[in-house]
Amino acid sequence: MVRCVRVPKAEGNSVRMSLKAEGLLDLDHRIASEGDSLLIPILCASYGDYATEERDLEEIEHQETDYRMFLPEEIRDILPNSFDCIGDLIIVKIEDELLQYKHQIGEALLKVNRNVRLVLMDGGVKGELRIRELEPIAGSGTTETRHKESGVTMITDPAKVYFNPRLATERMHVASQVKDGETIIDMFSGVAPFGLVVCKHARPKVVYSIDLNHDAYEFMKRNIELNKVSEIVPMEGDAAVAVKDLPQADRVIMNLPQIAYRFLDVALSKTKKGGVVHMHRIMERDEADALTEQLLDEMRSKGLDCHLSEKRELKTYSPSASVYVFDVIRD
Ligand SMILES: C[S@@+](CC[C@H](N)C(=O)[O-])C[C@H]1O[C@@H](n2cnc3c(N)ncnc32)[C@H](O)[C@@H]1O
Repeated sequence: MVRCVRVPKAEGNSVRMSLKAEGLLDLDHRIASEGDSLLIPILCASYGDYATEERDLEEIEHQETDYRMFLPEEIRDILPNSFDCIGDLIIVKIEDELLQYKHQIGEALLKVNRNVRLVLMDGGVKGELRIRELEPIAGSGTTETRHKESGVTMITDPAKVYFNPRLATERMHVASQVKDGETIIDMFSGVAPFGLVVCKHARPKVVYSIDLNHDAYEFMKRNIELNKVSEIVPMEGDAAVAVKDLPQADRVIMNLPQIAYRFLDVALSKTKKGGVVHMHRIMERDEADALTEQLLDEMRSKGLDCHLSEKRELKTYSPSASVYVFDVIRD
């Protein structure tokens, strides 16, 4: 039983607001409606001239939204404060000093993220195919999932192919730049998120999506069918070789931030005059401008005239380095 005040419905909202402002509203129970009155639960003996009653009001279940609250207080300050959500998966990095709590961290993340089915511990990205080492720490099922982004659904499996949900804004930015009828080459496409978002929000003629990883190629084909996109041409293989047979492009996307710059000459040689290459690159912040100018000088010395039109900082990579996108125009 909880104590409540009987208030005419017309006064209900103002009484509720006043009780709340004074810290006298019982937030653990639901307000009930009875005829022309509201029964408002209170934390005091009485309120104003309103009649009080003891009533059995429905309890409100408060959902904790901070997973840290389910873990021991002494480690809360050092727990991860960010993680990636891909479809119904969470991928979280856990420092060595917290490894003994990994299952508790996973269970706590599941508790506060009701749509999540499986929590995976991130062991880092490795090798040419940029595949993530993942260990399930809570939940169940496989690592294959469906991720929704900018009106597109993508089937992916972070244990088999690289997929970065944090690039959603950059993908929409590229889509916003695409003009009708463009020919686009995505040299390192993964499961084709750039192509899918571009085709959803713009009208390119064709997007050649290339990846070395066979699993990425298989997911591309499924995603093309799932999203009923006819403009994407999925291709499996080394982009440096695969682009040779492709027509000149208006736009080339190079999302392989560790080494994409090594392919810039190949990309520029496939770009029409006036076309653009979006080159992703991880760089020390204090070297980014000078090294990029040096790289463009190298391109010019190979007869590939070009200039930088824009540099975007996508995210911090380390205390001194960031991931950038350089938009390089072929002159
Ligand atoms: C950083 S991921 C990009 C994934 C995707 N663009 C995204 O937004 O999620 C880089 C991709 O390049 C692929 N890759 C690496 N070397 C390649 C090459 N020489 N030719 C084609 N793809 C390559 C990897 O398999 C990986 O899927």
